[in-house]
Amino acid sequence: MTNGITLSAPEYTDQDFQRLQSIARSQAGICLPATKKALVYSRVSRRVREMQFGSFREYLDFTAGSGGTVEMEKLICALTTNVTGFFREKNHFDHLTTCVMPDLSSGLRKGKRVRIWSAACSTGQEPWSIAMSVASSFPEIANYDFRILATDINSNVVARASAASYGPDELEGIPDKERSSFFRLTDGTYSITDTLRRLPSFRVLNLNAAWPFRGSFSVIFCRNVVIYFDDETREALWKRLADRIEPGGFLYVGHSERVANAKQCGLTNIAPTIYQKEG
Ligand SMILES: C[S@@+](CC[C@H](N)C(=O)[O-])C[C@H]1O[C@@H](n2cnc3c(N)ncnc32)[C@H](O)[C@@H]1O
Repeated sequence: MTNGITLSAPEYTDQDFQRLQSIARSQAGICLPATKKALVYSRVSRRVREMQFGSFREYLDFTAGSGGTVEMEKLICALTTNVTGFFREKNHFDHLTTCVMPDLSSGLRKGKRVRIWSAACSTGQEPWSIAMSVASSFPEIANYDFRILATDINSNVVARASAASYGPDELEGIPDKERSSFFRLTDGTYSITDTLRRLPSFRVLNLNAAWPFRGSFSVIFCRNVVIYFDDETREALWKRLADRIEPGGFLYVGHSERVANAKQCGLTNIAPTIYQKEG
């Protein structure tokens, strides 16, 4: 109901779904299999109604037209899946703390610049888990040349990540020590402490478009995003990411993912879902 008027369900045809498949593929590299037709309806119909169109066809005509740039971003946001969690796939954070941080800490102490990239950060649980891991193993890290770059194509999730506030039901997975050290409870909301907030920068970035920054990373987390891409897009992305990893640096991928072209990327699979750049 809107202002007492019941809005009928917007018309949604196979052709509309094909147009959405083509938009998701060309704008974000995301493949939407036929099995996702109903899911896509439930995600996008809200935008169709909010924009007061009676059918997906009208909505897509508007969005793909010259006046639809802002709406196109909103459509892409609606098409992404943002499931995440603190310390998800915890072995990566254990590896970061025990195997990577000792070298990175000694490099930082000698004046080295160290960067870690969370390349599909969703609502921020991944970059904040990285921040907690590095700050736990090197408490003075904020005084050194260290930053975490956290990016995602979805501007809504990037805004939430940057706000760094979470409800009690979202804290699952955070060890007690990190929860008490890095969160402050105010009015039922848990907020990341100021010291930790100095570590990450948040940006909207499409992994399958140009990257407007230079420089390389000691570690890249690119987890649970290439599952939405086709093989060709996936392999091209692995190569581009590998080219941005310093010799000896690390790439963490999601637990159902693998770098099929690891050798061509100069990466060695040193443990399940953990790759090291040669050099
Ligand atoms: C399932 S979440 C994974 C979040 C986190 N990396 C994790 O493993 O918990 C996938 C994220 O990838 C983002 N994404 C999808 N396509 C993308 C693209 N082309 N460029 C950047 N991010 C993308 C989505 O917006 C979503 O937030």
